[in-house]
Amino acid sequence: MSDMPSDMIAEATRARDNAVAPYSGFKVGAALRAADGKIWAGCNVENATLGLTVCAERVALWKALSEGSRGFSEVVVVTAANKPTPPCGACRQLLWEFVGDVPVHMVSLEGPRATENLGALFPRAFDKSDL
Ligand code: THU
Repeated sequence: MSDMPSDMIAEATRARDNAVAPYSGFKVGAALRAADGKIWAGCNVENATLGLTVCAERVALWKALSEGSRGFSEVVVVTAANKPTPPCGACRQLLWEFVGDVPVHMVSLEGPRATENLGALFPRAFDKSDL
């Protein structure tokens, strides 16, 4: 089990404060650590279509990739749920492609925490090796 990265948790918690979640009330913050050490954070952004909602993990990922950042080593997801929140299926697919088999730290502000590697959360993934 990897140690919980307090710097990333702080950044994800800060981003979570900006969550746009008026429909679900479920605020999420996420963070990625890049090869150069930079931490990229994001929050979920909901809208009236509901279906066009973007998760915190993808916001963090698009911020990082669009600024040229690469080589990610860890992911953090922060919520206030009563159990650790794992990335949704769509985010797992994208994290698998752009981040890889790295530790995903799932942190509840209520206390419960867990770490699992993305390969365990997303086994037998479809990816470019299948093309
Ligand atoms: N959500 C995330 O941002 N990340 C997750 O890991 C799980 C779900 C968001 C999407 C939506 O805004 C709200 O949480 C409820 O599903």
